[in-house]
Amino acid sequence: MCSFRPCWACCCLLLFFSLEVQGSPKPPSAAPEQVHLSYSGEPGSMTVTWTTWVPVPSEVQYGLQPSGPLPFQARGTFSPFVDGGILRRKLYIHRVSLQGLLPGVQYVYRCGSAQGWSRRFRFQALKNGPHWSPRLAVFGDLGADNPRALPRLRRDTQQGMYDAVLHVGDFAYNMDQDNARVGDRFMKLIEPVAASLPYMTCPGNHEERYNFSNYKARFSMPGNTEGLWYSWDLGPAHIISFSTEVYFFLHYGRHLVERQFHWLESDLQKANKNRAVRPWIITMGHRPMYCSNADLDDCTWHESKVRKGLRGKFYGLEDLFYKYGVDLELWAHEHSYERLWPIYNYQQGCEELLTPFTLFPRPWSALRVKEYGYTRLHILNGTHVHIQQVSDDQDGKIVDDVWVVRPLLGRTMYP
Ligand SMILES: *[C@@H]1O[C@H](CO)[C@@H](O)[C@H](O)[C@H]1NC(C)=O
Ligand SMILES: *[C@@H]1O[C@H](CO)[C@@H](O)[C@H](O)[C@H]1NC(C)=O
Repeated sequence: MCSFRPCWACCCLLLFFSLEVQGSPKPPSAAPEQVHLSYSGEPGSMTVTWTTWVPVPSEVQYGLQPSGPLPFQARGTFSPFVDGGILRRKLYIHRVSLQGLLPGVQYVYRCGSAQGWSRRFRFQALKNGPHWSPRLAVFGDLGADNPRALPRLRRDTQQGMYDAVLHVGDFAYNMDQDNARVGDRFMKLIEPVAASLPYMTCPGNHEERYNFSNYKARFSMPGNTEGLWYSWDLGPAHIISFSTEVYFFLHYGRHLVERQFHWLESDLQKANKNRAVRPWIITMGHRPMYCSNADLDDCTWHESKVRKGLRGKFYGLEDLFYKYGVDLELWAHEHSYERLWPIYNYQQGCEELLTPFTLFPRPWSALRVKEYGYTRLHILNGTHVHIQQVSDDQDGKIVDDVWVVRPLLGRTMYP
């Protein structure tokens, strides 16, 4: 019996080996996949990002006609990305920046190289200056499985309802999983939206694996922080994206908390000085400072880390955002929609009665909706923002509809 064992192990190994060979699919592809757009912050620009499985050139052909030749061409670069999983899968991430686009004009493009091209996609170049009314789709926490609201978002996108998307962290659940195949699947799923609209992101806790490497490699956000924190101007708004995760995954570097905080402060200073031109300052970060969900997340604690900082006193963001008069803060993480009254340090700035169906309301919680959906954010002008919450569970019904109004000059008054 004893001598039989090694042989049995042998057979097993052989069998395993032959399965592996049989199971290995098509050869690595030079055809672009996972195509998506982002805005670099430079007026007249748009960045195209995509993936191939072999190193091939990075080109975009584009033009104004839906069919026929694409007369313009731009070249870019690719960088290999090796996932941290056991298979060390290697992706080639291509980036091409289109420049000198005419504001508000529809373009058609395809990306790739002579070894393989994507299909054609369409996008509208962002308008310049503060005097127009950007429309955004805002959501967070979208998985590769059960992406409920995605078909509706795709339809909205095809109808030209938005100028950009803000995805406030947590992608795919998780991009690193199954040797980053979940990330590939997710990026393909969002392609019908993300290849037509600048898809702007911030990191969430689900991106944490291998020091956020799938997040940093796959997206192309403005600035030089691999998308961890950055800001950009859109019409009458200055939008700041940052990482709440630096407060939680300290083993990747405490210095990140400090670096981001100082960057935030100087960016807010500049934005505040520019208020006469761009009155709105809007932030997006994954984990909220306040929430009234029934879990043990940071935001359920009276002194949440994001709000009060490390050990309750270092690099907290509430005082910073208050000091520079941030008008609107967008968060995700909790799988629900909750709108707060203007609040600073638990003082809310509105005495109106609460909506009756909030069961155990916090005084600062204005509305809670526990349904799949996303937010439409229409920045009308320097004083008016229109927010609508779309319920996918209720077939697109608008379940919250509010205006946020700020004075044209100076700052929004908190309590
Ligand atoms: C994680 O990434 C950040 C920047 O993206 C870097 O500054 C930091 O040193 C990294 N940490 C580790 C432990 O590799
Ligand atoms: C912004 O739009 C609102 C709604 O249309 C309007 O009432 C308001 O006067 C506008 N503000 C400015 C500064 O144009």
